[in-house]
Amino acid sequence: MDNLRAVVLGLGLGRQRALGYLQNNGVDLCAVCDVDQNRVNDFLKEHPEVHGYVDYQTMLTAEKPDIVNVSTPDWMHLQHAQLALQHNCHVLLEKPMVRTLADAEELIAAVEASSRTLMVGQNYRRTPIAVLAKQLISEGRLGTLFYAVAETFQNKRRQFAKSTWYASAEYPRAALLGTGIHAVDLLRWLIGEVEEAVAYSNHRAYVEFPGDDFTMVMYRFANGVIGRAGVAYGSVLPRGEGGLTLQLYGSDGTLHNDRFYVGENGQGEWEHGEMPPVKNPFWQEVDHFIECLQAGKSPIVDVYEAARNVAACLAGIEAAKTGKPVKPMRF
Ligand SMILES: NC(=O)c1ccc[n+]([C@@H]2O[C@H](COP(=O)([O-])OP(=O)(O)OC[C@H]3O[C@@H](n4cnc5c(N)ncnc54)[C@H](O)[C@@H]3O)[C@@H](O)[C@H]2O)c1
Repeated sequence: MDNLRAVVLGLGLGRQRALGYLQNNGVDLCAVCDVDQNRVNDFLKEHPEVHGYVDYQTMLTAEKPDIVNVSTPDWMHLQHAQLALQHNCHVLLEKPMVRTLADAEELIAAVEASSRTLMVGQNYRRTPIAVLAKQLISEGRLGTLFYAVAETFQNKRRQFAKSTWYASAEYPRAALLGTGIHAVDLLRWLIGEVEEAVAYSNHRAYVEFPGDDFTMVMYRFANGVIGRAGVAYGSVLPRGEGGLTLQLYGSDGTLHNDRFYVGENGQGEWEHGEMPPVKNPFWQEVDHFIECLQAGKSPIVDVYEAARNVAACLAGIEAAKTGKPVKPMRF
């Protein structure tokens, strides 16, 4: 079988994706594109065999790729993914897939009409503690779960000063949908479907951010588990801390990040999960996408799964705004 031909649109995180395609033997990275010529030039300096573009449409027409990796700002995702599908391409899209329920419905319709595959990157599923949590649940070692926590405490000031669209009032991007979606996605992956959200948020730490920079949501899941997902953009922590806190509480055991306790009457100690060094999660996602395309399988986060994540986040945001419980739209 001939190698698939991929192009990458947007060279912020997209640079990592591009390197991901370069290291995968089943795909050829043909071209990259960014409206910022400097970002294109920087990439081509190290990879002169790859073609560079500053215009998306020109790249699609010239390269006729099989895959478009869309790594542009959130508010461009719908339009850029739709154009790729119209050109008969499979799409690997960054989270959040889209920003509204109407856009989610529109993108689902476009994917269904295209018979192409769309995957959304949710790389937290590939962190060692998330993999450990999934394994403990699937082995039933924690018993019947009753409570789960996924929180991400970040200091986004420096990143948002560099990529100003993140904190622009023109393209509002709520913290829960932007980064909190990782925590929400983990809870949904580990626990199941969300039935209802209640939430609080405030705007006290990162006051330049044009919206609430801290949100905490309680979800009631269809299976009865209660989950708490949280995101902060203005927390101040030593480097490398706060990225993800994951806790699971079950009738037989408890997980706190990389350690878990399965014991009776307080006997025994915490055990530590194996935390082997993992391959770059953005590359792992590229590998998974290529494998799915080659095997004709659905990716782990397909367009419907990504729409459910968006719906769960939007329910949390609406609940924080109104002070009332909100049920997410079903996809
Ligand atoms: N999964 C994760 O952990 C993770 C991490 C970072 C970013 N992201 C997502 O990736 C996306 C991009 O974020 P980023 O941090 O790379 O942003 P960024 O601003 O660093 O990069 C976006 C790039 O897109 C380019 N661009 C904008 N419009 C374009 C167009 N019409 N054609 C071609 N290029 C265009 C910009 O010039 C810029 O270089 C966002 O949706 C974000 O949520 C996900």
